[in-house]
Amino acid sequence: MRVTVSVLKADIGALAGHTAPSRGVLSRVEAVLEEGRGLYLDRYVFHVGDDIVLLLTHDRGPGDPEIHALAWRAFQEGTEVAKREGLYGAGQDLLKDAFTGNLHGLGPQVAEMVFEERPSEPLVVLAADKTEPGAFNLPLYLAFADPMYSSGLLLSPELRPGFRFRVLDVTKTERDTFIDLEAPERLYDLATLLRDPHRYVIQSIWSRRYPEEVAAVVSTTRLRNIAGRYVGKDDPVAIVRTQKIFPATEELGPPFGLVPFVAGNTRGSHHLPLMPVPANTPATSFFCIPMVAALGFSLREGRLTGPIDLFADPAWEPIRARAVEKAVEMRRQGFYGPAMLPMEELEYTGITERLRALEAEFRS
Ligand code: 13P
Ligand code: 13P
Ligand code: MG
Ligand code: MG
Ligand code: MG
Ligand code: MG
Repeated sequence: MRVTVSVLKADIGALAGHTAPSRGVLSRVEAVLEEGRGLYLDRYVFHVGDDIVLLLTHDRGPGDPEIHALAWRAFQEGTEVAKREGLYGAGQDLLKDAFTGNLHGLGPQVAEMVFEERPSEPLVVLAADKTEPGAFNLPLYLAFADPMYSSGLLLSPELRPGFRFRVLDVTKTERDTFIDLEAPERLYDLATLLRDPHRYVIQSIWSRRYPEEVAAVVSTTRLRNIAGRYVGKDDPVAIVRTQKIFPATEELGPPFGLVPFVAGNTRGSHHLPLMPVPANTPATSFFCIPMVAALGFSLREGRLTGPIDLFADPAWEPIRARAVEKAVEMRRQGFYGPAMLPMEELEYTGITERLRALEAEFRS
């Protein structure tokens, strides 16, 4: 069957700062989804840090107004609970008051894909907190274009032709522009763009052997483009299909073991490593190290079996320790140099006003 997978995520308030949603908020969100049961085939709800992730499978296609309206209502009613409980940042990612038929441009992150289901359809949902959409650039590039990580590119004739990457320029506030680049031929061009994750973001990846087959989709909402100021980090989600004509699940995992420095953490204004964590982990009070969770599902006729928590097994413990080591080292230098984001990225926060005031005090 042709199935649509929708992942919709929002931060609607958290306990004691930007840590995790409360039980009350999560159960309200679940209750609203339960009321909309007839609309979708299956669902799964989890959180990463203070962001709530809704996974819905259905046959209504991407951007369906009723699916999006259901998610919007779940986030809104969850926000009411968050307000009653005095949670921090209640309704933080709901940047517009009125729902206009689609969540795009309203604040929540959205990743959706539609495909003809394979007899066995392994699916991975990635969800990050305290970072930006470009945080998935390097892991996805390594999993889909680098045989050092994905030996399937050498071993499997299905993968050998490579993958097509759609990359967005997310600095355009009016309308995102995109480019399609085919790997391996355009590998250097791809790297030229992906090295700047604040600006260029992988939005989707496609099989070249089977051009209709979508491999991965990433949410690309930049909140500051909507709000015009810093209102929290953009905390992306992604959907990745694995196995057979795609990299294996165990080829998608290892690039996250690099724990690369990404933008985010405290006040969304610094560089720290992206730490793989189990789903439902609260944000760490240690500088809010950016985190990513990965849940694996099997899909059959739109119904989900699972999940399996892909970053929960013992191999990830020393990787997390490495992420903490890198974080400690970077934060030891406080605000200085690469520890804090470059000025263009901070331009939507208070520091730029201070800098303008200081410039006025300069004399020649
Ligand atoms: P299994 O033999 O356990 O199915 O593993 C096959 C494989 O290719 C793992 O990468
Ligand atoms: P969130 O976007 O996850 O709410 O993080 C905001 C922040 O400023 C943390 O310090
Ligand atoms: Mg948040
Ligand atoms: Mg928050
Ligand atoms: Mg968050
Ligand atoms: Mg955020």
